[in-house]
Amino acid sequence: MRKVYFDSAATTQLREEVIDKMHTSLKESYGNPSSTHSFGRSSKTLIESARKTIAKHLNAKPSEIIFTSGGTEADNMILQGAVRDLGVKTIITSKIEHHAVLHTIEELHKAHQIEVKYVDLAVCGTPDAKHLESLLKADSSKKLVSLMHVNNEVGTMIDIDLIADMCKENDALFHSDAVQSIGHWEWDLQKTKVDFLAAAAHKFHGPKGIGFAFIRKDSGLKSLIFGGAQERGYRAGTESCHNIVGLEESFALAYDNLDEERKYVSELKQYFIEEIKKIFPEAKFNGGCEDSNKSTYTLVNVVLPLDEKKAQILLFHLDINGIACSRGSACQSGSSAGSHVLNEILSAEDLNKPSLRFSFSKFNTKDEIDYVMKVLEDFSKS
Ligand SMILES: Cc1ncc(COP(=O)(O)O)c(C=O)c1O
Repeated sequence: MRKVYFDSAATTQLREEVIDKMHTSLKESYGNPSSTHSFGRSSKTLIESARKTIAKHLNAKPSEIIFTSGGTEADNMILQGAVRDLGVKTIITSKIEHHAVLHTIEELHKAHQIEVKYVDLAVCGTPDAKHLESLLKADSSKKLVSLMHVNNEVGTMIDIDLIADMCKENDALFHSDAVQSIGHWEWDLQKTKVDFLAAAAHKFHGPKGIGFAFIRKDSGLKSLIFGGAQERGYRAGTESCHNIVGLEESFALAYDNLDEERKYVSELKQYFIEEIKKIFPEAKFNGGCEDSNKSTYTLVNVVLPLDEKKAQILLFHLDINGIACSRGSACQSGSSAGSHVLNEILSAEDLNKPSLRFSFSKFNTKDEIDYVMKVLEDFSKS
């Protein structure tokens, strides 16, 4: 059976170069990076080289990059640390954040009585800047804003500079979950005044279980995990050296090839939208994902005009035809509650129709899209 993968927002296929580098590191660099002998020193060198590579591309300082086990840990480190170490009393966020952010904030509310405010969203999922400003001005407690750069389900992008500047003007800290964006968009952290970011390698053709937090210098944040002095005291535990090497390689290749791959993937997305419209002229695109100014080039979330019976078996039908795509985020597929993102932005009528997320990468082709269209067309006529 033919197999096609259109679920890169859930996780991406590794690049060969990344696998090769990780393999070499696993074989040769097994010293504990904290050991002072040559084996340890060579592992340490690899880690510090990765930190420098990442910092250089983001225009940050190496000491501002802290390796974590991925996006979830980075989000937790930042949000929990902001409350425990920085005296944050109010968190302003949106209802369409990833659960790594939403559930952490809910816990902070329960455990520390943190006040949580949700910014209004436009139908496409963009936060209402005026409402955000009014929330920022509404009280004088110590505040943190947490808004994701690119939404993982519908692809909506925020104007990160506008929000970062607004936070600065109103004396609030700003964290952005950039897990869907780092590796796909350029960053200049001298220009973009975020205080904190979260990133994960497996979203840009790197390994799972590794990511990083950007923590701006002198933020005052401390470690959540106690033990050794690794990661400059921000995160105890022996570093996952081969994963860090894989993160560095995937990150460097993502940025070295950014223009070319962005053009290629954007064209795939455009082609997908055009082809879907030919088969389903009434299809609707969620989160403004048809508009390249509002949405990432890496994914499409589409409502298909199918009846309820067909809607129920659509994902299964695609799966048995070897097509991998997704209903919401991969993390919620075990939950029966449906997508909290779509629940927030869709009308009741559209919520009853099947919404699918197709997410693209450099490994996809137009021919694969033609195959998806053929399967969808046959299914709609069956
Ligand atoms: C926006 C966003 N934030 C956080 C995460 C969690 O990252 P990780 O899987 O690396 O823990 C994901 C992954 O699905 C994501 O898409």
